[in-house]
Amino acid sequence: MTSSDAFGVRIAGAGSAVPDRRLTNADLEKLMDTSDEWIVQRTGIRERRVVDQEVEGTFTLSRDALRRALDDAGMDARDLDQIIVATVTAEMTCPSTACRISAELGATPAGAFDLVAACSGFVYGINVADALMRAGHCRTIAVIGCDAMSTVIDYSERSVSILFGDAAGAVVLAREENDPTVGCIYSSTQADGSMWESLYMPRRSQEVPLQDSDNPIKLGCLRMNGREIYRFAITKFREVIQEALDATGLGVDDISQFVCHQSNLRILENAKQKLGLPDDKVHINIDRYGNSSAGSVGLCFDQLWQAGKIRRGDHVLFVAFGGGLTWAVSVWKI
Ligand code: ACO
Repeated sequence: MTSSDAFGVRIAGAGSAVPDRRLTNADLEKLMDTSDEWIVQRTGIRERRVVDQEVEGTFTLSRDALRRALDDAGMDARDLDQIIVATVTAEMTCPSTACRISAELGATPAGAFDLVAACSGFVYGINVADALMRAGHCRTIAVIGCDAMSTVIDYSERSVSILFGDAAGAVVLAREENDPTVGCIYSSTQADGSMWESLYMPRRSQEVPLQDSDNPIKLGCLRMNGREIYRFAITKFREVIQEALDATGLGVDDISQFVCHQSNLRILENAKQKLGLPDDKVHINIDRYGNSSAGSVGLCFDQLWQAGKIRRGDHVLFVAFGGGLTWAVSVWKI
């Protein structure tokens, strides 16, 4: 979709939140048969943040990230018309995390809903928000990507648990009357549901595909065919970035930052090498935060934003893929 409207959509503020508690590779070595060397070599991850489940979770991380984004924007929750929380780890499916945040921060009667697109959730969220704003339905929207993956990990199983961490990233989007050129200039929000069995969280044994019937991972926890996702991601990452560049007529030099989902360092390095993306245009924090699913792109954006590495007028490309399987890309003029 390419937009051309009489007003723009400004990223008015950003914020993020991560738990204080660190889970290092050395900690994992004590829990399972793995090694720091294997994890670093296969994934680039050295540590990740995990919630204290007594007092923290998706709700608190999302709320804190949004508070910081509102402060950064100089806005109040009452200014919001809509709150979108992208997550697969909501404490409750009813009410949505977004409704609880709205109540806590005082955003009533803003619309509020959760969106499920796994690691693609934040990019799905900003694409949906941009469309709502362009259609004239809303003037100010908060988009939060958050997952507390540690709450859905079976730490007795090494194949999945080493990858994931907990984080939230948020942006506040506002209608920009003075400059119609700012905002999303290209977006794509896609999925291939036929590959859902590569990554899923079954609540009931009836949902478990036959080929996984002897999988030892607990019900309610994340199951993943790492090799299949890896193969998919390596190709898809490159393809969607190239499609976005072709559609916008922008080259790598025209984009100041490629804000990428932090899935695995090897996947990121492959995309960088194949597309010729310079190191300083691809923020990497997977070594310190692991793969925080819907939290990762918003967390990267906030770190770049607070460090002054993204400025007004810059072009920024957001890209993610994840369970579903889903993928999404979004190119913004900031
Ligand atoms: N420690 C030590 N050894 C391990 C571990 C571990 N934690 N896990 C697996 N191994 C062993 C395996 O048993 C296997 O041993 P074998 O050869 O004797 O059978 C060997 O290491 C290789 O296993 P693979 O699964 O082939 O390892 P691979 O190189 O594919 O790395 C990984 C696994 C890191 C999971 C990789 O496949 C990957 O990153 N895939 C993409 C995952 C991803 O991005 N997921 C997020 C999707 S986004 C979302 O929506 C949540």
